[in-house]
Amino acid sequence: MCGIVGYIGDKKAYPILIKGLSRLEYRGYDSAGVALIQDGKILNVYKRQGKVQDLVDFANDFSTEGTVGIGHTRWATHGEPNDVNAHPHFSGDENIVLVHNGIIENYEIIKKELTKRGHEFKTETDTEVLVHLIEEIKENSQVSIEEAVRMALKEVHGAYAIVLISKDSPDKIIAARKSSPLVIGLGEDEYYVASDATPIVEYTKNVVYLEDEQIAIVDRKNGLRIISIGNTEVSPYVQELEMQLEELEKGGYDHFMLKEIYEQPRAIHDSFRGRLNAAESWIALGGIRDYENQIANADRIVIIACGTSWHAGLVGEYLIEDLARIPVEVEYASEFRYRNPIIRPNDVVIAISQSGETADTLAALKMAKEEGATLLGIVNVVGSSISRVTDAGSYTHAGPEIGVASTKAFTTQVTILAMMAMLLAKKRGTINQTRFQNLLNEMEAIPEKIEYLLTSNDYIKGIADNYKDAANALFLGRGSCFPIALEGALKLKEISYIHAEGYPAAEMKHGPIALIDENMPVFVIATQGPNYEKVVSNIQEVKARKGKIIAIVTKGDTIVKDIADHYIEIPETDELLVPILATVPFQLISYHIAVMRGCNVDQPRNLAKSVTVE
Ligand code: M6R
Repeated sequence: MCGIVGYIGDKKAYPILIKGLSRLEYRGYDSAGVALIQDGKILNVYKRQGKVQDLVDFANDFSTEGTVGIGHTRWATHGEPNDVNAHPHFSGDENIVLVHNGIIENYEIIKKELTKRGHEFKTETDTEVLVHLIEEIKENSQVSIEEAVRMALKEVHGAYAIVLISKDSPDKIIAARKSSPLVIGLGEDEYYVASDATPIVEYTKNVVYLEDEQIAIVDRKNGLRIISIGNTEVSPYVQELEMQLEELEKGGYDHFMLKEIYEQPRAIHDSFRGRLNAAESWIALGGIRDYENQIANADRIVIIACGTSWHAGLVGEYLIEDLARIPVEVEYASEFRYRNPIIRPNDVVIAISQSGETADTLAALKMAKEEGATLLGIVNVVGSSISRVTDAGSYTHAGPEIGVASTKAFTTQVTILAMMAMLLAKKRGTINQTRFQNLLNEMEAIPEKIEYLLTSNDYIKGIADNYKDAANALFLGRGSCFPIALEGALKLKEISYIHAEGYPAAEMKHGPIALIDENMPVFVIATQGPNYEKVVSNIQEVKARKGKIIAIVTKGDTIVKDIADHYIEIPETDELLVPILATVPFQLISYHIAVMRGCNVDQPRNLAKSVTVE
């Protein structure tokens, strides 16, 4: 969380920083700030509580000159989100300014030490402590700014991506990372630094991803130099970005979330393109080819993830166990890493993450690595930390997801998991050719079926209107659609702030049924399949208590349609692929309810897209 950006070159830095911060705003939007060096000697810092636009409105009255600068958009960890705690933060002598993404865990101890030495702190942040520490070392040891940064970082514990500039070295930007991402863009005699490539892509496609415990020294004349915290030289590995600028724009939609919902046919198609061919009856996941035997013979698969990605993992458990008959456990990364789990060398651990930067997932992976497990990733952001820590993996190819609520990332994660399950089943001989072929055919048809589903958007909006004032909601599903009930509930609560819970439909009678009255909307997945009649009984139980039923049914259903208050039809598909289709109406319902309630759909309160703190 928090987005950071920096620029040094011949252009005016301020517009580049502001545009970059707007692109990174999805990472945090409690406050924003910039620092600019004007004429090589004046350090101007502007920061404001609120959005990047609040900063722009404020800075309008002041000079924004300068060709070197840094910026920050904050998701508060230490200290409330106000103007004072906003980044950048100054050193005591106001010569150095620094922006930071992450948490310095031992900041209180360092702060006490520095206070004893006469430092005075103006904010409640851990970041201010770090910039004072750098200042202290620079003064005491009489070293360059980059050496002071290196020495300071040896003393701090925790996670950081930092970028700083200083009045004494006005032609340099120093950046460093540990467990929080940083990318450096290489232009013509100009350099960009950012938390991800989105602020960079319109200026250059050549980037260097900084690795953990590396420091980048970007010098206007001498270019980019990278050293490790242990002080060894590192040759920069330049990669080419595949991202397109249009992917970062709303493209005529009111919100990124709606655009991303509508992108799902394309995104899912991209996630299986070149990996599956129904006419020729094959499936191949190039990224894990070398590990196929190992996965097929694993004692068990452990899936680790957070939030929506964890829900995808739960669907994966149903798919892999059902088709490939390999035991699967799905763990919250945040619990897994702290509960002394049993991990054996013959386990395969799969991390699922849209951003590839989620701190808990990354830490859980590192722990599994130490125990000798094979690590795979199902990740969207190319070049992200998780994709680099894992032994192998499959990118989801969903394209940039900007809306904080995950949509296309989820359905593409499930697509990859379905392909993995089919591949492993084929390899282990646990699927017959007829079922395999049917699944291939059905998978290829999913994008078209979602296109069809999206034509019901206005109808779904009409249904949403009935429930926009609800205080609570229940989501029910069974089998592989139980995780879709969890995902539906998460979507509704995170963007509309309506309290919602997801349950396996049959569990309702063990408690949640007590909540049901005429004010309770109950969203139920009641598609055709082995559990259909059981779910119909659950619906009757809700109706008997005057609850309102909004049912997702298979096209052509007659029974549930008659009982439900509202129904949404989804096209028929293989039972194991229903989760992908059933997700879409829940995304649209949540979206419309949130818009009707006047909520900030793309940037819900208190959240951030990329959770790089524990
Ligand atoms: O980037 P990741 O997939 O690792 O992120 C995990 C969660 O933070 C994320 O899915 C979160 O729950 C979303 N806001 C849900 O829409």
